[in-house]
Amino acid sequence: MTDCVVELRDVSKIYKMGEINVKALDNVSLKINKGEFVSIMGPSGSGKSTMMHIIGALDLPSKGETLINGNKLSNLSEDDLATLRGKNIGFVFQEFNLITTLTAFENVRLPILFQEDELKEEYNKRCEDLLKEVGLGDRINHRPTELSGGQQQRVAIARSLANNPEILLADEPTGALDSKSSKEIMNVLKNLNKKGKTVIIITHDKNVAKESKRQIFLKDGKVLTDKKM
Ligand SMILES: Nc1ncnc2c1ncn2[C@@H]1O[C@H](COP(=O)(O)OP(=O)(O)OP(=O)(O)O)[C@@H](O)[C@H]1O
Ligand SMILES: [Mg+2]
Repeated sequence: MTDCVVELRDVSKIYKMGEINVKALDNVSLKINKGEFVSIMGPSGSGKSTMMHIIGALDLPSKGETLINGNKLSNLSEDDLATLRGKNIGFVFQEFNLITTLTAFENVRLPILFQEDELKEEYNKRCEDLLKEVGLGDRINHRPTELSGGQQQRVAIARSLANNPEILLADEPTGALDSKSSKEIMNVLKNLNKKGKTVIIITHDKNVAKESKRQIFLKDGKVLTDKKM
């Protein structure tokens, strides 16, 4: 057994735009261990979202290897990749991406909609518990328009945990929030990390990053600094 949940080995990502090659990631190697709380920072265009897509197995590198729990992703079929993603990784985005016609509960329930009938009650209970865990036990039947931005993001975090993934990946989770809601979201993430989740966030905000335990700074697709706090 290895403690390393994510490894990038000599990863480059090159986007071809007609005649132009954009090197979004340039020979990046890093390891993230189980239970870490990492923030990825860097100027606009430095490769943060590209890195998140690669860590989250949404995209494969042009060169090099991604390993999740020691499995080389290049060895997996599209189906196996999708299964690995669904089981191991929860995604949270800046704009929450909730379905506006569904309640908080229904949004959280969505990722596990297609499951065996006999487990239905168990899954329903799980989703309620997740909403309670992010402090929304009293907002279960509210729709996104009836929730504040911070509350919507908490629903999105609960949704990302529906399949109990080992890793939580968040691209600018506080980017659309005021400072008070940002703090609340960071507290939710910190608590999840305390309970053992590996949390990886992208942020522009130093105050957000300082809540994490390791800060990786990207510039021009390269790791400029990588500091444990
Ligand atoms: N699908 C794509 N096709 C072509 N080029 C892309 C694509 N996605 C990103 N890029 C380019 O790759 C580089 C890195 O982009 P990326 O989105 O990873 O940056 P970022 O650090 O997340 O920036 P931001 O802080 O603005 O979100 C940029 O130069 C961008 O223009
Ligand atoms: Mg980005």
